[in-house]
Amino acid sequence: MALREVLQFPNKFLREKSDPVDAITDEFRTLALDMLDVMYDEPGIGLAAPQVGVGIRLIVVDTQWNEDSAERNPLVLVNPELTERSGNNTWNEACLSVPDFRADVPRSEFVHLSAHDLDGRAVEIDAEGIQSVCFQHEIDHLDGILFIDRISHLKREMYVRKRRKQLRQEELEAVGGPD
Ligand code: NI
Repeated sequence: MALREVLQFPNKFLREKSDPVDAITDEFRTLALDMLDVMYDEPGIGLAAPQVGVGIRLIVVDTQWNEDSAERNPLVLVNPELTERSGNNTWNEACLSVPDFRADVPRSEFVHLSAHDLDGRAVEIDAEGIQSVCFQHEIDHLDGILFIDRISHLKREMYVRKRRKQLRQEELEAVGGPD
């Protein structure tokens, strides 16, 4: 079966605020598994439901995974919330919805995450380092926020111009324009 497509900047759906999940149905479980397939295929270490065009508060994360290790420890987090934050950190981030760009983003160093898992059980996690950053990045997606919103105006504008150019180029190629 084909993988779900990841929406990319400047798709407007990425700017919507997502709704809380009120029931874990079979359809919802399928969505969560599909999101894991997309995340490992890309590959990425986190993915939020709005990135695949579904406006609900669901994220998947696996910050231990890398392409050289077969071991997978996915977290599926329903209605995730950061209930505590402390310290400051800067992390060099990228995003499957923001192609061909990385930037240093100011974040909290430590966070406490409260969520539910696919069986409706409460999940409480104290996170630091890459896991803390990943939780903050993915929960931002649920509120329509991208990491490029958290960098300087100048850097963001540079990216927006580069992305526009890239999209124009893709359009030209699609209609068989100059190569
Ligand atoms: Ni992202």
